[in-house]
Amino acid sequence: MAPGLQKRVDAYLVNYISGKCKSMDAMSRSSSSNGSIATDESLFEQPEPLPHSKTAMEKIFWRRSMEMYEKQRNWQESPEGRKMMEFRRNLPAYKEKDAMLSAILLNQVVLISGETGCGKTTQIPQLILESEIDSLRGGMCNIICTQPRKISAMSVSERIATERGEKLGETIGYKVRLEGMKGRDTHLLFCTTGILLRRLSLDRSLKSVTHIIVDEIHERGINEDFLLIVLKDLLPRRPELRLVLMSATLDEKLFSSYFNGAPRAHIPGFTYPVQTYYLESILEITGYKLTPHNQIDEYGMDRAWKMSKQVPRKRKSQIASAVEDTLSVAEFKDYNAQTRESLSCWNPDCLGFNLIEYLLCKICENERPGSVLVFMTGWDDITSLKDKLQAHPVVGDANRVSLLACHGSMGSAEQKLIFDRPPGGIRKVVLATNIAETSITIDDVVFVIDCGKAKETSYDALNNTSCLLPSWISKVSAKQRRGRAGRVQPGECYHLYPKCVFDGFAEYQIPEILRTPLQSLCLQIKSLKLGDISEFLSRALQSPEYLAVQNAIEYLKIIGALDESENLTVLGRYLTMLPMEPKLGKMLILGVIFNCLDPILSVVAGLSVRDPFLAPLDKKDLAEAAKAQFSHDFSDHLALVRAFEGWKVADRDLNAYEYCWKNFLSAQSMKAIDSLRKEFYSLLKDAGLVDSNPITYNVWSYDENLLRAVICYGLYPGICSVVHNERSFSLKTMEDGHVLLHSNSVNARNSRIPYPWFVFNEKIKVNSVFLRDSTAVSDSMLLLFGGNILRGDTDGHLKMLGGYLEFFMDPALAKMYRSLKLELDELIQTK
Ligand code: CDP
Ligand code: MG
Repeated sequence: MAPGLQKRVDAYLVNYISGKCKSMDAMSRSSSSNGSIATDESLFEQPEPLPHSKTAMEKIFWRRSMEMYEKQRNWQESPEGRKMMEFRRNLPAYKEKDAMLSAILLNQVVLISGETGCGKTTQIPQLILESEIDSLRGGMCNIICTQPRKISAMSVSERIATERGEKLGETIGYKVRLEGMKGRDTHLLFCTTGILLRRLSLDRSLKSVTHIIVDEIHERGINEDFLLIVLKDLLPRRPELRLVLMSATLDEKLFSSYFNGAPRAHIPGFTYPVQTYYLESILEITGYKLTPHNQIDEYGMDRAWKMSKQVPRKRKSQIASAVEDTLSVAEFKDYNAQTRESLSCWNPDCLGFNLIEYLLCKICENERPGSVLVFMTGWDDITSLKDKLQAHPVVGDANRVSLLACHGSMGSAEQKLIFDRPPGGIRKVVLATNIAETSITIDDVVFVIDCGKAKETSYDALNNTSCLLPSWISKVSAKQRRGRAGRVQPGECYHLYPKCVFDGFAEYQIPEILRTPLQSLCLQIKSLKLGDISEFLSRALQSPEYLAVQNAIEYLKIIGALDESENLTVLGRYLTMLPMEPKLGKMLILGVIFNCLDPILSVVAGLSVRDPFLAPLDKKDLAEAAKAQFSHDFSDHLALVRAFEGWKVADRDLNAYEYCWKNFLSAQSMKAIDSLRKEFYSLLKDAGLVDSNPITYNVWSYDENLLRAVICYGLYPGICSVVHNERSFSLKTMEDGHVLLHSNSVNARNSRIPYPWFVFNEKIKVNSVFLRDSTAVSDSMLLLFGGNILRGDTDGHLKMLGGYLEFFMDPALAKMYRSLKLELDELIQTK
């Protein structure tokens, strides 16, 4: 079309559409004022004939916009639709509709805040969509809303589809890893942040997207911080694109200055008052007495035992005295001697499972109706506590209490139970991770119990160690948790820690990008061709330490994902297609190449879930003996492979439960491994690495030495040497010196190891360094399968390996290995 003509058509369309909108708004006002339901005809004149010059594409958009408008009107005026609109109009976010929409219209970036439950997630994206549809731009608009978790993307999209009287997958859709419901007509898509990042790798300027909403921005996950850098770069190139950042609480100064003074729109909300109890008042009002024995139990005891080995004495007494110091000044006088004495026994490292049980029992027996929400640190604590509570005469009584778990990996049937109100007379008790803090709203909660901690990775760049341990939450999180109790009526919140500990909490949680290894992030930067890694990360909201970035780059070079000039290798490119830690991805690829995929799938899935081997305190010996049957070959990883293979057979014969019981295995972990294996297989298929016939990839699956070598290849440079002495052995790594095996490792019970090396997945530094899972490997496995000689700097690398393997530096031998290894590495990179 000639440019002049195009301009005229555009002008015509703009006039036509704006004229149309005005007239329709006026009509809808008049129809609602006289109370009559307008018929389709009276609402909609037939669109005037379009100029012949309109392109086919424009005609399609046009027709689509009309259809969407009509459908939306029909629903909003149907009896169910009216009921739904009445509910929505009462949500604080809906009440601020005009202010929100005009802020978004006038600014490219807007920050939206408002109490959890005020309707940010369900209303804001929907209001944008509705207003676009009302302006007859429905067909052209494409809104993407990211969620930090799979489960919220799924549940929110479902909810909005219901609010619009549609099926999921029509106008509203979702897409999460390996799952999705979206169609040709989807205009509002909920997805995880990872999915949007992937989309960016295919379409750098997000051409067809009109609005991006990043929800729960306060969580500051590594993916969200990464996405913000990319979007910040994109905004000037796409001036019409709108970015909305939403959260219950947000560090306004930080975000606003990052986006050149973006304005904040706040949704005023209402919550009922919440009576707050800290540990000291809980002890006082309940008369519960904390003793070292009373706050710990079967599970806590285990943890206390571990902690007593790991936590330096100094730290404990510091905290205990801090408690006493602060309290003794002003408040402590008010507490009776018994509470004070009881509090002095408080051990911050032990979750009071007994105390939680006691509190729950009190609430169930004495308190008014209302659901209870218990915040725990993670899935394993939830499962342990649930097991314990199920045996309780009151809390475990299914006729009185509906006991539910709420965490990121729960199924949709479980999810539904959490949102549903229980039948009369039954009290709902939900044990949740911090997922229930802001992203999931359970409507009828009146009581909250907060353990004060959440599982958090921390990364020490200097020692290059990371660990996932429960740590104190932030003030903002504690406030959020408390707020969950006052949604429907005045509520109560029990914080299981003293007030002075709360006073010491940080204001906001440290963002993940500052406390986690950056390997996957660096790979993604490379795969999106975003230039120099360090330069790119220096533009983050809060940039990670230089050393953390260098460690990650160095690691990626060692495993052969990046070459010396920091470009992606072939292996690196495949790793970017597998959304998991690079070492796990690499192990899977090796499993394919060496035709031993089945057991390697189990190893990788096993490394991604909670330890399936249970060790109850009272049956420790039996549990150890059961585990020993799987572990005659000095490998935790292979022990898991065997345990899983046994489970698979038992599952086929329908006695999986009995098998788990007999062998002290967690049935839930086994099921999780089973489904993760399938998920990983699909990922490999999507990456074009396997086809649908798994048999071909398993010719060598029985070869234990090959498996050991592949595990070594994947876990390198996680390696330590075994030094035998008179009676036993000790372990050394290059960076940490002496290290210890975790007490759960099958190798911890041997006094001799007939191998010179261990490879391990994870080391945890407390006061000593502990290796979690380990597999013993031989010299030749390490030489052939350790590292990647293709780095160019072959001799240097061999020398580094030689730091471990001095005795192998015989020149002739080294030369032979070098050429063998070169061949092997080339094979990996070209496959
Ligand atoms: O995002 P925000 O926390 O501000 O609230 P929301 O998730 O949009 O939820 C707003 C309201 O919608 C909640 O108070 C619930 O009453 C309701 N809702 C629901 O009934 N079912 C859902 N799956 C999600 C929300
Ligand atoms: Mg929300």
